[in-house]
Amino acid sequence: MRTPMVAGNWKLHNTRDQAIALATGIKSQTSDVTDVEIVVAPVFTALNAVADALRGSSIKVAAQNCYPQAQGAFTGEVSPQLVEDIGCNYVIIGHSERRQLFGEDDAFINRKVHALAETGLGTILCIGETLAERESGQMFNVLRRQVCEGLKGLGIESMVRVVIAYEPVWAIGTGKTASDQQAQESHAFIRSLLDELYGAQVAGATRILYGGSVKPDNVDGLMAQPDVDGALVGGASLKPADFVRIIKFQKV
Ligand code: PGA
Repeated sequence: MRTPMVAGNWKLHNTRDQAIALATGIKSQTSDVTDVEIVVAPVFTALNAVADALRGSSIKVAAQNCYPQAQGAFTGEVSPQLVEDIGCNYVIIGHSERRQLFGEDDAFINRKVHALAETGLGTILCIGETLAERESGQMFNVLRRQVCEGLKGLGIESMVRVVIAYEPVWAIGTGKTASDQQAQESHAFIRSLLDELYGAQVAGATRILYGGSVKPDNVDGLMAQPDVDGALVGGASLKPADFVRIIKFQKV
């Protein structure tokens, strides 16, 4: 009932031409995929070109960030409306790199959630605990705070366009993936929070992606977990063969 999503977060990689080549390579190798929603998230400078290159295909395009204002005196920022204008479908917000390196807190991320709800864009809201938070027994509190504060005030009607990405910070770019059981435990908890906030129907329909060192050799086990609905992939999404294998995960 939940269409799996595999999203590639290209982070700060690829020139415009490299991004077009990567996108068209993925497109040609996934023309037979009908049951997985594929998303790529290039850097801002390649977003327009990649959106154009993928137009007419079923692959969706995401921005990696946005500012929660439509326009104004906000030097260096990009609004959801402008992202939508060039043909994007989603915006990733709350990524741990934005939280950690750029000081974004739950309140600011919540403003982005509301700004995105004003547009036709989908939201991929990233959450996840650090290793210290996990080891000190704070994981569930942190996830609760990030979900509740991140979605604060968002109406139930907007939830159809929200995807949650659970990305334990200690697993991002480290080669250390959460075990299948650890991922399932967190995803089930997040779904129970959505149930508390929005009821069973929304909780059952909202996709929860796992992110953090997803690779061809661990994706099948992760995707076999009942509450894992897809993957947000960093490093492996830059390698076409790896990313395509992740998209074509095997049911185990
Ligand atoms: P990774 O990154 O797959 O390289 O760990 C995931 C992410 O940051 O979204």
